Amino acid sequence: MRHWSPDDVEGAFRLFGDPEVMRYVGDGRPHADHAYTRGWIERAIAYDEKHGICRWAVDEKESGQLIGSCGFMYPYKDDDVDLGYYFGRAYWGRGFATEIASACLKYGFETLKLKQVSATVDVRHEVSQHLLKKLGFEFVKIIDNDDGTVDHYCLVVNPSMREGQVDRST
Ligand SMILES: CC(C)(COP(=O)(O)OP(=O)(O)OC[C@H]1O[C@@H](n2cnc3c(N)ncnc32)[C@H](O)[C@@H]1OP(=O)(O)O)[C@@H](O)C(=O)NCCC(=O)NCCS
Repeated sequence: MRHWSPDDVEGAFRLFGDPEVMRYVGDGRPHADHAYTRGWIERAIAYDEKHGICRWAVDEKESGQLIGSCGFMYPYKDDDVDLGYYFGRAYWGRGFATEIASACLKYGFETLKLKQVSATVDVRHEVSQHLLKKLGFEFVKIIDNDDGTVDHYCLVVNPSMREGQVDRST
């Protein structure tokens, strides 16, 4: 796992430009073109410099190839960060998400001293839900998006925190 570089545009577009990878991510739309991905990387680098976190780049050790992205963002509040992970289709089912997300959580709790890590996942995304449970997350609730869509998400939170800290209604 490493910081993004402006040289990653090609690899990152291969990842985020794939509709299958993006199916359950955000609004479900893949990056439209290299220019969009270039902007995304610039924003990720700036966010990383400012907050010390972002969805970092993930390289495969053997090949040095960019294969995915994993990391944290602050969508809620500073002591409750959101975990996200995305891997290229060619790398699915090989244990990468398990390995990298586990390492990311360890880094978050032990080094960044995070108190809470949450994750939102589309209710249809069974693989990601399975992965989160395997990582120790627990289902909290289904929430409605604010934008008027009917998509429902379940929210999971690391069980290491107390019940009372899990109100995400604001
Ligand atoms: C979700 C995602 C990150 C999983 O990555 P991965 O590297 O394939 O996951 P792993 O290989 O570590 O597998 C995690 C678990 O899911 C299971 N799994 C993986 N792919 C599966 C599939 N297609 N069907 C059923 N189970 C599957 C694995 O068997 C493993 O469970 P186990 O340890 O009990 O056997 C990957 O599919 C992805 O990048 N999807 C697109 C981006 C995305 O949706 N991100 C999440 C947004 S919430």
